[in-house]
Order: sequence, then C-alpha cells, then structure tokens
Amino acid sequence: MTDAPTDGHALLDFNSPLSDAKSYDLIGTLGPLDGATVVDYGCGWAELLLRTVEHAPGATGLGVDDDERAIDRGRANIAARGLGDRVRLERADVTTWAADPADVVVSIGASHAWGGTRGTLEAMHTRLKPGGRLLLGDGIWDGEPNARALEIFPREEFLLLHELVDLALATGFRLLNLTTANRDEWDSFESRWCASRERWLLDNPDHPEAAEVARVVDEHRDGWLKGYRTSMGLAYLTLARR
Ligand SMILES: C[S@@+](CC[C@H](N)C(=O)[O-])C[C@H]1O[C@@H](n2cnc3c(N)ncnc32)[C@H](O)[C@@H]1O
Repeated sequence: MTDAPTDGHALLDFNSPLSDAKSYDLIGTLGPLDGATVVDYGCGWAELLLRTVEHAPGATGLGVDDDERAIDRGRANIAARGLGDRVRLERADVTTWAADPADVVVSIGASHAWGGTRGTLEAMHTRLKPGGRLLLGDGIWDGEPNARALEIFPREEFLLLHELVDLALATGFRLLNLTTANRDEWDSFESRWCASRERWLLDNPDHPEAAEVARVVDEHRDGWLKGYRTSMGLAYLTLARR
C-alpha cells in the first residue's frame, strides 16, 4: 500500500479508531498523571500523548515512532500548542529505544513492532515502574471472521477479548479499565482513511499515480466492508504493572 503521493492520514485525528470523547476517558484511567513521565511507543503523530500532557500540566511526555511524516506532524502540533518544554518526539525504532522506566506507557496499534501482543506486553512491563500504568490498544476478533477478513488478517493475528485480558494478567499486569472501539469509531476511522485519498484524487485526477491511489483505496474499502467490518475489534486496556 502506498502513502505517496498523498498523506493518507491527513484527515485522521488518531491513527486508530478512537473518538475525542473516548480519548479523554482513556486519559482519565491513566492517573495519577500530575508529575508523571509518559512514554508512547509507536506514537504516530502523538495526538494522545499531547492530550495526556495537556490534561496534566505537571506531566512530561516522550513519543517514539519511525515514521518521519508522523513525527514531523507531531512536532508541528507540539510547537503550535506550546508544549515544547514538556513533550519531545524521537524518530527511532521503538524496539531499540532505551528510555528509563516510566510512570505511564502507551502502545496503541503498534504490537507488530514487538512481534505480537505477548512481546508488546513483556516489553511494556520492562519499560514501566512498578505500579505504573500501560494503555494498550490492540486488535482482537470481536466476531467470527469471514473468508475475506482472513485473507487480510490471519486468524492467529488477533486474540479474543478474554484471551487478551488473560495474557495481560499472565505477563504481570492487573486490569484497571477495558473498552473497545465501537462501530461509529471504526466507520469514522476507515472513512477518513479513504477520504484522505478520495479528496486527493478529486484535486489531482490527472496525476500519474492517480490510478494507483484509486486502486489502493478501492481495495481497502472492499476489504473493510466485505471483510473485517463485522469481526475485527480494537481493545483499549488500561493495565497496572505488578
Ligand atoms: C496504527 S499506528 C498507531 C499510531 C498511534 N499509536 C495512534 O494511535 O495514533 C502504528 C504506529 O506504530 C509505528 N511503528 C510500527 N513499528 C514501529 C517500530 N519498530 N518502531 C517505531 N515505530 C513503529 C508506525 O510507524 C505507526 O505510526
């Protein structure tokens, strides 16, 4: 899938199915945040990290991601929102980034970086202080996947919700909060992903890469609507490190 020549994330607030209201609900589960160190591994453009630090004036934040365009967008937002003295973003591979154990760590939609959910939980455990909180956003099967969904995501890619919670408990965490992305959040996320490209196509109908961008968005929309829309979920767990 190509992102060039257009930024396929331009219309998204987060690179995950997450509403404004739920983002603040999740931040509320991460406390105490005053004076906390917060590290977001696979932060994208770090919108959740920025909101977390804005929500807790004494908190400091670090975001790590290897996507240059996302880091540039996040840094521009940090400057625009006057957060430069409390938040910094690093462009790096999260698996080799050595940060001190934090009070709060975040990993949303980035489990593939650590080879899957277990690897993510184990890595986040070592990157947290005892008693620290992890906000994990991870894919789950939320219904029986049809053949088209399984062409896109192998069955073993995701756990069921209760399996995910059991794995978190088995890797040294206790569960503080659980929620899942709802249908509106998913439809908004997928629609905006597609619309970033559709709007570019409207403005650039004769661009040499227009046909390829149209092919990518058509294939994506098809896979979403005929495949995983009724079976793929996204769980947000707030976990406390034992
Ligand atoms: C689905 S996006 C989620 C971004 C962000 N957490 C959010 O919710 O908006 C996953 C992010 O993980 C990042 N990522 C994946 N593997 C990575 C790695 N090994 N090192 C750094 N970043 C990685 C990608 O660049 C991408 O920004």
